[in-house]
Amino acid sequence: MREYLPILIVGGIIGTFALIFLIAYIALIKRGTEEDDRERKMADSVIIRRLLQYAKPYWKSFVGVFFIMLFSIAYDLISPLLMGHIQEIIKEDFAYSYLLSIVAVYAGILIVSLICTYFQAMILQKTGQKILSQIRLDTFTHIEKLSHEQLNNIPVGKLVTRVTNDPNNISYLFTNILVTLAKNALVVVGIVGAMLTVNYALTLMVLCFVPFVVLFTVVFRRFSRRAHRRVSNTTTDINTYLSENLSGMKVTQVFNQEDNKMENFLVRSKNLQKAKYNRLFVFGIFRPMVYMLYISSVMCLFYLGAKGYLENISFMGQTISSEVVVIFYGYVSRFFNPIQTLAEQFDMLQRSFAGAEKVFTILDMVPQVVDEEDAIELETIRGEIEFKDVWFAYKPDEWVLKGVSFHVSPKQTVAFVGSTGSGKTTILSLICRNYDIQKGQILIDGIDIKKIKIASLRRHFGQMLQDVFLFAGDIRSNILLHSEGISDEQVMEVCRYVNADSFINKLENGLDEVVRERGNNFSAGQRQLLSFARTIIHKPSVMILDEATANIDTETEILIQDSLEKMKNIGTMLIVAHRLSTIQHADNIILLSKGEIVEQGNHQELLKQKGKYYHLYTLQYTKQQLQNS
Ligand SMILES: Nc1ncnc2c1ncn2[C@@H]1O[C@H](COP(=O)(O)OP(=O)(O)O)[C@@H](O)[C@H]1O
Ligand SMILES: [Mg+2]
Repeated sequence: MREYLPILIVGGIIGTFALIFLIAYIALIKRGTEEDDRERKMADSVIIRRLLQYAKPYWKSFVGVFFIMLFSIAYDLISPLLMGHIQEIIKEDFAYSYLLSIVAVYAGILIVSLICTYFQAMILQKTGQKILSQIRLDTFTHIEKLSHEQLNNIPVGKLVTRVTNDPNNISYLFTNILVTLAKNALVVVGIVGAMLTVNYALTLMVLCFVPFVVLFTVVFRRFSRRAHRRVSNTTTDINTYLSENLSGMKVTQVFNQEDNKMENFLVRSKNLQKAKYNRLFVFGIFRPMVYMLYISSVMCLFYLGAKGYLENISFMGQTISSEVVVIFYGYVSRFFNPIQTLAEQFDMLQRSFAGAEKVFTILDMVPQVVDEEDAIELETIRGEIEFKDVWFAYKPDEWVLKGVSFHVSPKQTVAFVGSTGSGKTTILSLICRNYDIQKGQILIDGIDIKKIKIASLRRHFGQMLQDVFLFAGDIRSNILLHSEGISDEQVMEVCRYVNADSFINKLENGLDEVVRERGNNFSAGQRQLLSFARTIIHKPSVMILDEATANIDTETEILIQDSLEKMKNIGTMLIVAHRLSTIQHADNIILLSKGEIVEQGNHQELLKQKGKYYHLYTLQYTKQQLQNS
């Protein structure tokens, strides 16, 4: 037997290296076309530590699963021994009942192992789902805290992936990977131990193949990681493209851009397809190679075993019986599979880590607009607003507001006018602290808004914007937005107040009428009235209207004008409107130009000044006259 061993090993080495070089060659070609700049930045240890934090509350489940697992691997370790034993006794005369009892033991172990596997899977799935939902929740809550600027910088599709796909990959870690990793490692160690006690010469032969499996695994991991990353990147690409274009589908149709968009989509789809082929290819090489190793080792085993058995050679004091050959056959077939899966599991571990890293990167984004430590809660506000020399830029040094100062007394109505891009919307969103200003101060009731808790600040504002966002649901839920303890009568009262009652009453189901996604089964005017109702019901002290009346038919405008008049009594009102007729009655009109206040005063005062406002007004007025004549 010693004379053949070296030849076989050398043969194995040469064959193996040839294959490794083949893969390396293929990989080098791929490498030229692919950039590796999206490598992970977080260390594995950091990721593991943070993941453990999530698993910590469930440690008992994991310990329980570990013990159950010990039983479930008993089958792998004991069954070859039983098979060998059966082979041994059926060679000679044997008692049928004895054979039956061994078969019964075999079946018993099999059943116990199956039951254990079932419970193990059940416990893990449940625990994994709990951890998953926790991570998803944390991610979602964190995204909610991000500032407008941060949200503007991440495509929606990417965010969707962060809340759905990536946590999925992580949960796979807990439900599957960790346990199979542990189980396979234990099986491998157990089998080596069992083989050593049965026959160490044959064991050494089997172990000679292990370095190759490990080598393959290391090489394979590199490639598979890249292949997986390509798949995940192209998937995110498609998701981003889809969510953007599904939202903009109507624009696409109106502008006849279907073919263009389709082509772009096709490119992305092809990329994903290629990435998936690539992954298949990588796996297609690895599996057969390990299978080849397995077959060679079985062949060696049979060759050496049979030779040893027939010639009755004793090696290091051990002889080989037919029982030993059967037992080894059983072990070898159970030995390579775990090693191979170990390698694949390592790769999935990497995928989970990659998913975890992406999720943690989102969780690590420090919300830019946050409460200061000594921020206070404001129960009620009077609605006094003051800007003191406010400077603001979205991008460094591109000032959008340049030293804006104005004062609004409680319950006053103030209008902002000025050409597009002059900074009106910006002023309004600064009051709600959607962004933090760079210089100056914004005061509400004389208190710097940075000293007020953001949630408490925003509670006192009611914003009515040009594009009303309605959520899928019904009219009631869109007006209430999760507020509780408000009766239908109160809702209808508010609807009457803002003149939304007439159209709601005409609906078949009234407040229960279904609102489709984004409210596209309602007209712009109706949506606007609903947004008024939504705002009023939350009893804001400051109402903000940003071009809320811009594209609305005359009939609805009269309704809206009327409700605006009534709303003036509720609290402070800040209005941006293009039609100057809408704002004539404002207590103060602020005219902006390129981020600076150029004129302010009431309608009459500004007309007397004969400045920019006067020009704007006469322009619109004559246009109106022309239209009417
Ligand atoms: N999120 C943003 N990021 C970068 N620049 C912005 C953003 N929003 C607005 N701007 C810029 O700020 C300026 C003022 O915009 P805005 O306040 O919306 O004007 P208005 O409402 O008066 O039409 C514009 O030049 C616009 O390009
Ligand atoms: Mg605007």
